[in-house]
This record gives sequence, C-alpha cells and structure tokens, in this order.
Amino acid sequence: MPIILILSGPNLNLLGQRQPEIYGTATLADHMNRAKQTAAELGFEVESLQAQSSGEIVTAIHNARSRCAAIIINPGALTHFSWSLNDALATFSGPIVEVHLSNPATRDPWRHESVVAPVASGSIVGFGAKGYTFAINAVATLLADKK
Ligand code: DQA
Repeated sequence: MPIILILSGPNLNLLGQRQPEIYGTATLADHMNRAKQTAAELGFEVESLQAQSSGEIVTAIHNARSRCAAIIINPGALTHFSWSLNDALATFSGPIVEVHLSNPATRDPWRHESVVAPVASGSIVGFGAKGYTFAINAVATLLADKK
C-alpha cells in the first residue's frame, strides 16, 4: 500500500491539553488514528512522526523522498519561519498538504505567513479535528488524478 507520511511540528504532542479552546480536546494520537482509518479505507498506509525541532522533520522529509507517496504536514510554529522546511519539502515530488487545526489567518499577525504554503499542493486550515481526514481525502484525489 502506498504510504502517506504525516508530520507534526513542535508542541503538537500536547494536543488535548494545550489551549483546547483553540485546538480542541482530541489528542495527536486521536487525530492519527482517525487519519489511519480514513487512509486504510482509501487503500493507503499512514506513517506519522511528531518532532520538536525542524532538523528531525527535514530528515524525515529526505527519507520520505524514495518511500512515500505523499506528505501531510502540520509544522506548528515552524510554519511561520522555517525556510529549511520549505527547502526540504521542495525536494519531494509527491503531493504535500499543509494542515492547521486553527485558522492562523484569524490569529496573531506573526501567524499570517506560512513559509510552507508556497511548496505545498494546498492547505487545509481551521477545520479542527476534521482537517486530517480532509487532507487524506485530498491526497487520495491528487494521487488518483496523476494516474
Ligand atoms: C497550528 C498553528 C500554528 O500557528 C501554531 O504555532 C501551532 C498549531 C495549528 O494547527 O493550528 O502550533 O499549526
């Protein structure tokens, strides 16, 4: 089965405890389980990694280049300044979907820019817990269109 890699940036390990009024009460494991279920229904396998630093995520993107069909990424605050993530994602040839649980455009001004968006196929923001399942469906559609 083709592999979809879901990457999560810093502080997302605290989902469920961290500002639930913004990010909801589901944990990262809850989101990943739901994503895995949706992916399995569509014929995909999900691998996931959460990291607190950009270096680990950059390495995971490099390793995905020859192994994974698509990447779904919520880079957390790295979204807004990590050009090394932009460079790494630009080396990946499959679909890339950026996900944010909240809608950064409605929040602090420093959250308004995403340095990942220019190298993503598209972004899914502000749909809370549904964002990851929307992203899996988006990836499946993009991969089917390429066939
Ligand atoms: C986030 C939005 C980012 O601005 C923030 O730094 C996060 C979470 C989201 O999913 O809404 O850590 O990526």
